[in-house]
Amino acid sequence: MNQRSNFTSKIGFVLAAAGSAVGLGNLWRFPYLAAQYGGGTFLLVYLILAVTFGFALMVAEIAIGRKTGLSAIGAYKALDKRFGFVGILTALVPAIILPYYSVIGGWVMKYFFTFLTVDIKVVADDAFFGNFIGGSPLEPLGWFFLFIALTSIIVLLGVEKGIEKVSKFMMPFLAILTVGIAIFVITRPGALDGVVYYIKPNFKDFSFTTILAAMGQLFYSMSLAMGIMITYGSYMKKDNNLESSVRQIEIFDTAIAFLAGLMIVPAAYMFFDGSTEGLKKGPTLMFVILPKVFGEMGSTVGTIIGVAFFLLVFFAAITSSISLMETVVSIVMDKTKLGRKAACAAVTVFSLLMGIPSSLGFNVWSHIAPLGQDLLTFFDFISNSVIMPIVAFFTCVLVGFIIKPKTIVDEVKETDGKFKSEKLFVIMIKWIAPIFILGILGFSVAEGMGWINV
Ligand code: TRP
Repeated sequence: MNQRSNFTSKIGFVLAAAGSAVGLGNLWRFPYLAAQYGGGTFLLVYLILAVTFGFALMVAEIAIGRKTGLSAIGAYKALDKRFGFVGILTALVPAIILPYYSVIGGWVMKYFFTFLTVDIKVVADDAFFGNFIGGSPLEPLGWFFLFIALTSIIVLLGVEKGIEKVSKFMMPFLAILTVGIAIFVITRPGALDGVVYYIKPNFKDFSFTTILAAMGQLFYSMSLAMGIMITYGSYMKKDNNLESSVRQIEIFDTAIAFLAGLMIVPAAYMFFDGSTEGLKKGPTLMFVILPKVFGEMGSTVGTIIGVAFFLLVFFAAITSSISLMETVVSIVMDKTKLGRKAACAAVTVFSLLMGIPSSLGFNVWSHIAPLGQDLLTFFDFISNSVIMPIVAFFTCVLVGFIIKPKTIVDEVKETDGKFKSEKLFVIMIKWIAPIFILGILGFSVAEGMGWINV
């Protein structure tokens, strides 16, 4: 990436960055974590983290990119030689995420075709997802292969611009549909308890792993701590206002996640009578709950909504997987002498191999459960709750103590001399965020090991 074209308008930048941010993280991941970690408690922790921590980190990453004009691997090294390893760590994250992201992408495709071809009562049945995931292992694997193949073909042919255009056009519809489904859910008789569970914090649900999960989700959903925002920043013009761009991306991303939660969490609470078994369905939650919701709409309406919804989610997912694959391919090209085609082939094969365990973890390999997690959740945990916090920690140290917050503050002020939340930024990046990350990692390990019990 020698030649950097710039985003010509601020709205262009915000849309592109928000496009990378909005994806399965909002629609699939946020709701299941919220359901699992106490609803309102998780929501509150997430919101607080987003406006403090997420804000500071996103400002720092975009400013680093704009200042250096480099993507993550080069940028960390350029700022301080000793921090080159952080750049390398950031590169690992998309390589770990892409395979399991594509497994879920495969499930989305399966659901799209099922709604298109099968009677809705069948899909809404409790046993449907279980039969799909636990039946022949070849079926989920097939959908996963298909999803990766599509991603790879798009990247190889270099037609992602076209796909992204289509996707951008579709995203407003996804937002509208999500609002509509959420309204349908919360107006069901008996949904109120579920809404209360989703919105009202309950301190008994609080634990350090709740904070760790919320922090990991924040990184994941806003594409932080993996170099993506540095790359986006490197394309951003000086006269685009950095601070307000970050605010807009955050608001957009959080609004979509909140709505997705509103459509899934109260429904999960309602259908399973608030039982923990129902709320802790993890990665499978969206696929178990939504067909039931659509089923309640009656067969014609439910089928139409189901088809439309999973088609739109598919677009949100494929644009993210394209961008993840692009990122990994460009790193491979930079670090090896491989050309684009060969790098793309290598990344595809790698992703296929790495994704197989995630898919089989719900099937014939369900007995393999590192840290008590299925394999997909385990890979997800390694990238979001281990590597990303480490990257974020070193980014804070680099900004807070080596290049100094002033470097970033000056970069933010390039546009119009203003940085409204300057004080918040400095104290977050220098003190609160790094100490907090270490604390949370430490407590979570202790909790996971059973040394402390919160
Ligand atoms: N933020 C995306 C989502 O919410 C997922 C994601 C993580 C991503 N890292 C990325 C997307 C890198 C594009 C590029 O689904």
